[in-house]
Amino acid sequence: MAIAPTFDIQLTEADFREQLRTDVLWGLSGRRKWLPPKWFYDARGSKLFDLMAGLPEYYPTRTERALLRVSVDEIARRASSATELVELGSRSSVKTRLLLNALTTHGSLCSYIPQDTSENGLRAAADWTSREFPHLSVHGIVGDFTTVHPALPHGGRRLVALLGGALGNLPPFERTAFLGELHQALRPGEQLLVGVGLVTDPAVMIPAYDDAAGVTAEFNRNVLHVVNDRLGADFDPIEFAHMAVWDPDLEWIEMRLAATKPMRVTIPDLDLVVDFAAGEQMRTEISAKFRLPAFRTELAAAGFRLRHAWTDPEHRFALVLADR
Ligand code: AVJ
Repeated sequence: MAIAPTFDIQLTEADFREQLRTDVLWGLSGRRKWLPPKWFYDARGSKLFDLMAGLPEYYPTRTERALLRVSVDEIARRASSATELVELGSRSSVKTRLLLNALTTHGSLCSYIPQDTSENGLRAAADWTSREFPHLSVHGIVGDFTTVHPALPHGGRRLVALLGGALGNLPPFERTAFLGELHQALRPGEQLLVGVGLVTDPAVMIPAYDDAAGVTAEFNRNVLHVVNDRLGADFDPIEFAHMAVWDPDLEWIEMRLAATKPMRVTIPDLDLVVDFAAGEQMRTEISAKFRLPAFRTELAAAGFRLRHAWTDPEHRFALVLADR
């Protein structure tokens, strides 16, 4: 008989709303405008993301999935002491199923702890996983993956998974802070499994963020719909052009929205009026790509030891297992 899943609402709707207000206020009042990528993912944005993941140009999702398929048994053997799988940003059910299966077969997994920002998504995930894996206790956490550490249960031995390349969406300072805080929250013997996009040919990377069908463009503009819906703003999303730029020095893809004409936007909820000049660019996402030697050093600086890295044949994506 399956045990009913339990939930921890670490951040409520009101908390997320307050964060959005702060992010929009800071992001749009400065001279160089930006909005953080975490706000792409309302119901519409999540649908667009799923569509994007199936596009021929967007290789990261399918590359990571295929990589996980071929390496999951080896990963599970190297993580066989884990009794709890903590999955940060847990939306991906295929990847979860592979991991839960392998960790059950090769180890002694007792619980699954998915974290996500969407309570509905999390409840659905908790439901199917506890039905399909009745021996596992499932505990969902609604929160932000960068600040979830204090809410993590600490009874067993944890394997923390952060898949999909989400680590690359954090600006360098936040990435360092996140790895350091995660290291502090874990105990010796616990592990981290992280999926990262690798630096590869710009002719491959750029179209992945600027597909021919325009799905990524619509996903990018969705952040404006979110600010309109939740803060009453009057952005005219179609007047913002999608851009995807590879920065060869910082080694990240930057998504931007460029104003096609001068515009004044009002955000009643913040008592804010924002002016855009024609052509003005606003940053909406960075998606850093990694090189394994440098990533090993970065992990070591946070206190983690890289144990093994699995890569696809074309060296576009890596799954990295590290010890606390
Ligand atoms: C899967 C969330 C990491 O940076 O590749 C996809 C999101 N942005 N297309 C990424 C994304 C544009 C994405 N993450």
